[in-house]
Amino acid sequence: MRRLGGSYDALIESLHAAQEAFGYLDDEAMLFISDYLGVPRSRVFAVATFYSYFTLKPQGEHTCVVCTGTACYINGAGAIRKRIEQELGIKSGETTADNRVSTLTARCVGACSIAPVIVVDGELVGKLSPDEVVQLLMALPKGADQ
Ligand code: FES
Repeated sequence: MRRLGGSYDALIESLHAAQEAFGYLDDEAMLFISDYLGVPRSRVFAVATFYSYFTLKPQGEHTCVVCTGTACYINGAGAIRKRIEQELGIKSGETTADNRVSTLTARCVGACSIAPVIVVDGELVGKLSPDEVVQLLMALPKGADQ
């Protein structure tokens, strides 16, 4: 946040930095950002809950963001989400019971040419079928194997 200069305009960047550092945005982080930037707490919370990229809950060992922007939607994002729900038993915003995989949705991650796109642990992956997405998620290493 020091790098961002503590300006009001730095709110989204600060939320990104906090989530990247801690994996999610808890009350303590949001209060700190509010105080540091001089932004009302209600504004910080509103921004953090408006953008689907941000999460207020701890995430599993791996995260899978399914892009549901227009290009991805047209190319099968809905089928991918449905298949993840069937195989992993979790909806967007949830984490598997073994804490291995969390799934989220986002609106256009900027890679429409390879739609449908998922982002697994920060890496863009495109043009996968729903079955291939599930295979990829099931093959992610567990805990100490990473
Ligand atoms: S709509 Fe999914 S990357 Fe643009």
